Amino acid sequence: MLPRKTIYWSTTLQSVKNSLLLHGGVGSDSSLSAVLHEYARKAFRKDSSLHSVVNATVAMEDDPVFNAGTGSYQRIDGSIQMDAAVMTETGFGSVIGIERIRNPVKLALDVMQKTPHLIMAGDGALRLARLLGYEEYDPDTKKAQEQRAKVMNELDSPEAAKNPRYSPFKRMGDISKLILPEDTVGAVACIKGKFAAAVSTGGATPMLRGRVGDSPIPGAGIFCGTKGAVVATGIGEEIIKHMLCISVYNEIGSKSLPRILQEKASDFEGPVGLIAIDREGYSYFSSKPMAVGFISEEME
Ligand code: GLY
Repeated sequence: MLPRKTIYWSTTLQSVKNSLLLHGGVGSDSSLSAVLHEYARKAFRKDSSLHSVVNATVAMEDDPVFNAGTGSYQRIDGSIQMDAAVMTETGFGSVIGIERIRNPVKLALDVMQKTPHLIMAGDGALRLARLLGYEEYDPDTKKAQEQRAKVMNELDSPEAAKNPRYSPFKRMGDISKLILPEDTVGAVACIKGKFAAAVSTGGATPMLRGRVGDSPIPGAGIFCGTKGAVVATGIGEEIIKHMLCISVYNEIGSKSLPRILQEKASDFEGPVGLIAIDREGYSYFSSKPMAVGFISEEME
């Protein structure tokens, strides 16, 4: 049972074929859904779920409103390190802690399609990006600078010890309670019977340099197989502990998708959101407002 005081944002199952669903992160302003519908419309490819989810994620990475690509949050030291992943029924690629490129999700796709590896991190990932022609790009924004300044002020204040979001960070204990609720963009699709998923994030602030969230970890922030595709948003540490996306995926077919999402998300104390698609249709669920966009072949 869900805690009674919690309000959830969800949809019932939408049974449509050849569709693409995207989200702008748990905590994102749901009035942005109109923007995401437009991104979905432009990203949709009738012949490829993989290209549809990557195109949609690139559009959100390029929009500074969202915490991915341009607009990614800064770490405590002021740096920006981004994580991204793509997954199909047969392939996976992700990048961890990538810096100074514009579209981490494109590099995740290149890891999957152009290297013998599944996951690339840090300076090796950056070297790969430059080898493949990714130009130097600074994803920093005024929004990220102001957000970090605010977090640093709050961490420094005498009240921080009493603030459940900050006191654990001061002790370097459980950092999960510190994390602000808006993060991560993601997309899932089923087109011509094939599933795909993509995710990208600037991380969940406040965070140390080198911290890795759920997004680039298969089974945690992303999962895709022959039964469906799932992407999560929320506190990366919590999502990893629950291996949230594979846990949702494993239940596909046993009950309705909305029910699976609701049951899995109700285990979380912190903000969490899920989007998923199976052979019956798509659904989403989040514990705070979350912008979502959608397109199907029928709507074109
Ligand atoms: N959910 C994104 C992160 O925790 O990094």
